[in-house]
Formats: sequence, C-alpha cells, structure tokens
Amino acid sequence: MFDDLRSFLGALKERNLLCHVRPEVDWDLEIGAIQRRVFDRDGPALFFEKVRGYEWPLVSGVLGTPERYALALGCETHKGAIIRKVEAAAAKPIAPVIVKSALCQENVDQGASIDLLKFPVPKWRRLDGGRYIGTLGLVITKDPDTGVQNVGIYREQVLDRNRLGLNATQQVGTLWQKWQRKGKAMPVATVIGVDPCTLIASCVQAPLGVDEFGISGALRGSPLPMVRCVSQELEVPATAEIVLEGEIAPDAALTNEGPFGEFTGYYGMVTQSPVIDLTAVTFRNRPVLQGTLEGKPPNESTMLRSVGHSAGAAARLRRMNLPGLRDLYITDMSCANFMVIVSMEKQFYFGQARQVIEGVWANMHIAKWVVVVNDDIDIFDRRQVEWALSTRVAPHRDIWVTPANQVNTNLDPAAHPDDRNYPNLRGSRIGIDATVDFKGFDFPPETLPSPEEFSRVDARWREYGID
Ligand SMILES: Cc1cc2nc3c(=O)[nH]c(=O)nc-3n(C[C@H](O)[C@H](O)[C@H](O)COP(=O)(O)O)c2cc1C
Repeated sequence: MFDDLRSFLGALKERNLLCHVRPEVDWDLEIGAIQRRVFDRDGPALFFEKVRGYEWPLVSGVLGTPERYALALGCETHKGAIIRKVEAAAAKPIAPVIVKSALCQENVDQGASIDLLKFPVPKWRRLDGGRYIGTLGLVITKDPDTGVQNVGIYREQVLDRNRLGLNATQQVGTLWQKWQRKGKAMPVATVIGVDPCTLIASCVQAPLGVDEFGISGALRGSPLPMVRCVSQELEVPATAEIVLEGEIAPDAALTNEGPFGEFTGYYGMVTQSPVIDLTAVTFRNRPVLQGTLEGKPPNESTMLRSVGHSAGAAARLRRMNLPGLRDLYITDMSCANFMVIVSMEKQFYFGQARQVIEGVWANMHIAKWVVVVNDDIDIFDRRQVEWALSTRVAPHRDIWVTPANQVNTNLDPAAHPDDRNYPNLRGSRIGIDATVDFKGFDFPPETLPSPEEFSRVDARWREYGID
C-alpha cells in the first residue's frame, strides 16, 4: 500500500517503470509530444525534472499499463484480476478517517498570492483552448441534500491566476444543478497528485451518493486519511501534492472552455462551462504536479476508464440479479462511447441476452456497443470475442440498433454537433447477441479436441520436449 504519489513513484523507479527526464523541456507542446511517443510505445511513466521557467517537476503517464496497476493494487497483471479487485473494493468500502494536520497543507496561498501558473502546467496539444491543470485532478464536490461527497476526474482549464473552467458534466453536472436550484455556491476542491489507489477509485463509476474515497480505503486496506480544506467545507486526501479550493457561484456566467484534445482521439467542441473562483491553493513542499495526455488511445486514461467503468458497471448490473451473469469488460480501445462485452452462462430462456443488453443500457449512459457472449469466450481476449462475433451472429437476427433518441455523451465524434450540447445529448446504440443460445437450431460441433484427448497429451507433455 502506498501512502502518497511520491512513494509510488519511488517503487516505479526501482522497477525501471519510471523515467526521469533531466534536460529542460517546454510546457508549450513539447511535453505533450514526448508523452504521445511514449504512450505509443507502452513506455514508462515520465518525471519531467526541469520544465522551462519552473523549478517544480511534472509527472505524467503514471498508471499507463496493467503492470503498474498490479503494483499499485497488489494483484496479478491480468485485466480481469485488476477489475475484479476494484469491483470487490467498491462492494465493501472503508470510510476515510479525518486528520487534523496534513502534508497537503504545508503551504497555503490565499487571496492575491494565488497563482495557478506557479505550477508547470502544460499546453498539451496544439489546438487546445489553453493550459489544462486538471487532466488528472480529482474534482471533489458534495450533494447539498445529503452532504455526501463525490469525486471524479473532470478536466479543468486555467482561465487566469485564480479561475478555472470546469467541464461540469455527469455527476458533477447533476450536483451543480442541485446547488443552483438552492441558489447557493457549490464548493469544489481539485486534488492533484494522490496515491494510486485513490486515483483508481476516483474513476469508478459508483452511483451518485457513494463516496469513492471509501473505495480507495478498501483498495488500500485501511481508511484514507483526509483533512478539512482551509477555505471550503470539503475534505481532501491528506497526502495530496496540490489542492485547489474554490466555489462556483449559482449565477456564474458560463465561459468558453476548450477545445480540448479528448480521449476519443478528436478535439471536443468549445464548451460553455462554469467557472471555479479559487479561494485557496494548498500544496506540499516542492510539489509534484501530476497530469496526463488525453488523446487517441492507448493512453493512461484508456486504462483508468476501462478499469473504473468496468468495475462500476459490473457492480450495478449484478444488483439487477439477472440470472447467469458472469463477467463484464469495457474494452480499452473503445472510447467516447464504450464497447461493453458481457459473458453469461448458457441462457435459461429466450430473450435473456437482450435483457442483459437492456440492463447495461439502463445502468450506463455511455454504452454504444454491448456484446453478449457465452462464458466459453474469454472477454479479455480480443481474438476470442472477434471469433464469437464472426461465427455466432447473424446480423439480421442478432443485432439490435436503437432509435437515435438515446442518452449519449457530448464527446461522441460520430454524433451530430447539435446533439452534443450538455445536458441535451442524443445518440443511438447497438446490442449484439453473440451467444449460441435460442437461435432456433443447434450450432455444429466445435473442432477442439475432447477433454479426454487433451488430458492424454497433457499427461505426456514433458516427454514431448516441446516447452
Ligand atoms: C484522465 C481522465 C479525464 C477525465 N475527464 C473527464 C471530463 O473532463 N469530463 C467528464 O465528464 N468525465 C471525465 N472523466 C471520466 C470521469 O472521471 C469518470 O466518469 C468518473 O467515474 C466520474 O466520477 P463521478 O461519476 O463519481 O462524478 C475523465 C476520466 C479520466 C481517467
């Protein structure tokens, strides 16, 4: 278990999974281009020691590969094992503990001393609307009705020294509308540079009303220490590198935010976003700014989303108690609007696979593709899924395309721009029954050797001298 980002970086370094970049690099596009090359090569996490004009470092690409997840979580590197570990933690959260003093408050800037560009904030991509400090920032808000905190990663653009434009969609969008309806300012804290379990937990799509910091506690095996903000009624992880405290006024004018090079691999549209007015910035001595390059998969956010959303969606689907459900995986290269693969036991009645498809749609607002397969298919093995799609599906019978009036995301590049304005988002979905059940006939026998034939050769395996 790692107490903070720094101890995890130390462990990565020991295993050659982190590279210290020592020459000076430019925050203006150079860091983004380096990171792109490294993602494309499945390379190490990057610690930029000297960013032009800055003395404090920047780290990116920290949770980019299953190997680094396994180290953070203490489990196998198989994606299924990682997702199951996170899903189990979400089922048994451990509430955080509140501490009185914290490393994240070693330095406190308030009023005129607040300056976001004190930190080496990159301009990640050429067409970005500005410099984004929130690319891996945990945005903490709370429900004004229940007081329960919510955390998720939402992008944040630096507007000036003490103002941020926030992409307030999904659960933050709902909570912000709740605060607006009460005519009150919404407190927001953005936490940058946390221990890896907390970062992973923040991406779990837990239902509104579930505080994901409890999931972090379960992943860590002990309560997450948190501290009260200095200027807002919110609590933040005590060992974070940087905390941006602020609020969004109920009558705040919206600002142009973006474009931003999105995880879909396309630029999103300029968005009308609410503004966070900062009330304090707190940080550790010699803070490490953590960020990541969004953009065409594969990248760090591919893994974060695939794991967090798979774990959240599987937990919600299981709660529906549909019989025979086995496993669920949101593929890593599907983005904007996911491809969800679900495996199930041999169906018990006609229409069960369609029920599962409807169950996924009911539970996830971004699930453009849902593919249901039998449990002889390993859903984490792309080759097996493709085989099921090509041999078990008759398109006219097994593919179900919805009308174009379904809930969608503003980031789906295939949707018409008129349908991409939050909260008025529309799109269509496709469900595929790639099972062999209830198709009106028996599939031909498969060509694999029988279990007896296999066990006979397994018993003599060493003798063959093949390995
Ligand atoms: C690197 C990264 C950046 C993200 N940026 C955004 C964003 O700008 N807007 C958004 O709605 N979701 C974004 N997400 C997805 C949310 O963080 C994710 O859906 C999370 O579960 C939301 O938490 P919540 O539902 O508890 O609020 C991002 C995820 C990652 C990994």
